Amino acid sequence: MVIRSVELETVAGVTSALPKNQLPEVAFAGRSNVGKSSLINALMNRKSYARTSSQPGKTQTINYYRINDQIYCVDLPGYGFARVSREEKEAWGKMIEKYLVTSEQLAAVFLLLDIRHRPNANDKQMFDWIQYMGYQAIVIATKADKIKRSQIPGQLRQMKEELKADEDTIIIPFSALTKQGREDIWDLMDQVIEN
Ligand code: GTP
Ligand code: MG
Repeated sequence: MVIRSVELETVAGVTSALPKNQLPEVAFAGRSNVGKSSLINALMNRKSYARTSSQPGKTQTINYYRINDQIYCVDLPGYGFARVSREEKEAWGKMIEKYLVTSEQLAAVFLLLDIRHRPNANDKQMFDWIQYMGYQAIVIATKADKIKRSQIPGQLRQMKEELKADEDTIIIPFSALTKQGREDIWDLMDQVIEN
């Protein structure tokens, strides 16, 4: 896909109305710091559209990136970030939940998991929930540059086991640094656009 334009629309807080979009949306969910915003930048071939940070909890709003007037990439706040107050955690959780439950144009949910770590309880819950809601869960194993290439297949297999994922669950190893996996993600997004 050739990216001609990217427009950002932000939705802040659980009380804000979600935009009534006509275009399909794909959402990126995952723990704080897993690399959601970095992935969106890498997808768009831009360095810093989506704000990233080594401090977890950077993205605190729902950010809609409208690409070519064809599709929205939706950058969600991270879940499970320990160092915020319980109120804040609940507010973000509600914001994510409200989005996933009410968005009418949502076509696919990408769940990002750090390739180095075993999925935790929150990750497993999110994985199950995506499927329960009727979406195909597509897993992206982020920060693939942090491990040896030879270790990647084993990590993916372990992730699949831990998630109790079906054999046909798609898991894409990805690195925002090397851009490994970017084409695979774009292929899936192209399928969403064509459907
Ligand atoms: P929240 O907005 O807090 O939920 O985090 P996020 O999931 O958007 O993570 P973000 O993209 O801000 O990245 C978190 C940190 O991980 C930053 O320091 C990034 O530079 C780093 N990072 C993200 N992706 C990669 C990657 O593929 N490889 C490496 N080595 N570092 C990465
Ligand atoms: Mg972010």
